[in-house]
Parts: sequence; C-alpha cells; structure tokens
Amino acid sequence: MPHDSPAPLLVLIGFMGAGKSTIGRLFALQLACPFVDLDVEIARSHGSIPELFSSRGESGFRAIEHHHLNLILPRLARPTVLALGGGAFLQPANRELLARHSATVIFLDASFEVVRARIADSNQQRPLARDRERLRQLFELRRPTYLLAHHVVDASGNDPSVLLSSLVQLAKRLGVSGPARDRL
Ligand code: S3P
Repeated sequence: MPHDSPAPLLVLIGFMGAGKSTIGRLFALQLACPFVDLDVEIARSHGSIPELFSSRGESGFRAIEHHHLNLILPRLARPTVLALGGGAFLQPANRELLARHSATVIFLDASFEVVRARIADSNQQRPLARDRERLRQLFELRRPTYLLAHHVVDASGNDPSVLLSSLVQLAKRLGVSGPARDRL
C-alpha cells in the first residue's frame, strides 16, 4: 500500500456467533487501534437489542441500525475495527454506506453448526436466534451476501488465536500493523 493511502476501516461482518465482537476486540488490541461495536452503540442510545426488537419490531431495529451506521462512519479514526450486527450487511443501504466510506469488509465465515453451538446459551439476547429452523434458513439465505465482502476469513475453528492471527496477517497485507506482540 502506498505511504499516502489512508489506513483502512476494517469492518467485521458475519452471522451471529461468528466472533465479530469477541475477536474484533482482540484484533483491535493487536493493532493498537479503536474497536467499535455497532450494536453496543445502538444499545447505548436506545436500550438493549431484545427490547428494541420487541418495542419496534425488526424493521424498527433496522432503521435505527442504519441511522447509527450513518452517524458513526464519518467519525471513525483510521484504522478502526468496526463489528456489525449479523443482519446489518444484508441491507443494501448499509452496503452503500460502507462503500462510500471506503470500508474494507471482512467476512468471518463459520459453519452453521459452529455458530449455532456458540450462540446456544445466549439466544435470548438474540431475537432472531430463538427458533432453530428459522436460524438455519437465515444462515443459508445470508451467506451469499456475506460473500460479497472484500475478504473472507475462516472462523469455524475452536482456537481464537488462529483466527486472530489470520486477521492480523490480513491487516498487515492491507498496510496496518500494530506494535510487535508475541502473544495475546
Ligand atoms: C442480528 C444479530 C445481532 C443483533 C440483532 C440482529 C442479526 O448481532 O444485531 O440481534 O440480524 O443477525 P450479533 O451478530 O452480534 O449477534
């Protein structure tokens, strides 16, 4: 990457349970850059995601999600790691916003069985994860859109340090490298 290219905005997308928030935080730590979680920003100003789904429905939540993405994108330092909720990238208007802000989109690609197992204990926090059959349909419906990301990283493994190291290698190729660290 030429020296005068701005550092990238690294946006993590993928299904619920792919590790966007957990790994995103570690990824940002490794790069010594800010980490922003869109759902946390939404919850800070509107209350919890499950409450929002029950008071405004999914379409109300999607409108708020788009509003917040629009609000925060111009304010983010570069580099920043930004984690989106699992449905955000599915909205064409959000993909347009990301493109307009030259975001680098990274899909954390984990199998259905892996994500289902990971979210099994927290599906009350995830309104769209309560029904297993619906969850599988959503997974299959969404994956082709997630694959529109600029980069796809395998996120099915059990060892988060392997995923983290793939992400750090990718960031290096994109011209971002944090301070040298030899362990998590
Ligand atoms: C959603 C995923 C959730 C949250 C909301 C909707 C989705 O975020 O945004 O419950 O549509 O997949 P996580 O992917 O962080 O669980």
